[in-house]
Amino acid sequence: MGKHILLLGAPGAGKGTQSKRLAAEFDLEHVTTGDALRANKDMDISDMDFEYDTPREYMDAGELVPDDVVNEIVKTALREADGYVLDGYPRNLDQAEYLTEITDLDAVVYLDVSEDELVDRLTGRRVCPDCGANYHVEFAPPEEEGVCDECGAELIQRDDDTEETVRERLSVYRENTEPVVEHYREEGVLVEVEGEQTPDDVFEDVAAVVEDA
Ligand code: AP5
Repeated sequence: MGKHILLLGAPGAGKGTQSKRLAAEFDLEHVTTGDALRANKDMDISDMDFEYDTPREYMDAGELVPDDVVNEIVKTALREADGYVLDGYPRNLDQAEYLTEITDLDAVVYLDVSEDELVDRLTGRRVCPDCGANYHVEFAPPEEEGVCDECGAELIQRDDDTEETVRERLSVYRENTEPVVEHYREEGVLVEVEGEQTPDDVFEDVAAVVEDA
């Protein structure tokens, strides 16, 4: 059976970057609520009686999409995966409790990155709308400015990577998701990795944890 890996970290900590590599290296499914929600941004959730009618409105404001919507996405994705790297979930204690009900975990890894670095990383991030490749204008630039190395498409900035929304996402993270990190720390299952190394060095440390899991 494939391994069940949870990767935790603040917005911009490198969860997506590392999850993609882990999934390829260890033959795991990359389950990411952020990508799943971006692919379904305009899904009509008006019949569920939430504040907004679509995931887009929550995401563009830097707020969390309601648990009922996200839990269903994760449940379906995990049911279909043999082994997985889970990225972007759980983001609050209720989601963490739900996760415990639907699966077990072999390793919980936390990428530790300071807030100033997070803001620089997110506001400088550029993504490929076609193949999903991830760049940074300074830390990981494409060979030709603004063009994806993988598929040649024009790179874009995510709608929620403006400085104002980034600040809101970090505040939501502090309030809702830091308690999740503490929860796993108290359970004694959290492995912390220094996230301010080069992507290759971070990967080496995370891969060592997954190897042993
Ligand atoms: P989501 O897409 O999950 O965003 P996030 O958690 O805010 O994380 P990011 O994808 O922004 O960052 P990352 O840690 O993956 O970093 P990355 O590798 O890209 O969620 C978006 C929204 O969806 C939420 O705000 C919410 O509305 C909704 N949502 C999602 N999940 C939800 C849930 N469970 N419940 C409710 N709502 C939910 O790296 C960032 C940048 O840094 C890149 O440019 C990269 O090149 C660079 N970089 C990476 N590693 C390094 C390094 N070691 N050194 C230098 N640069 C680096």
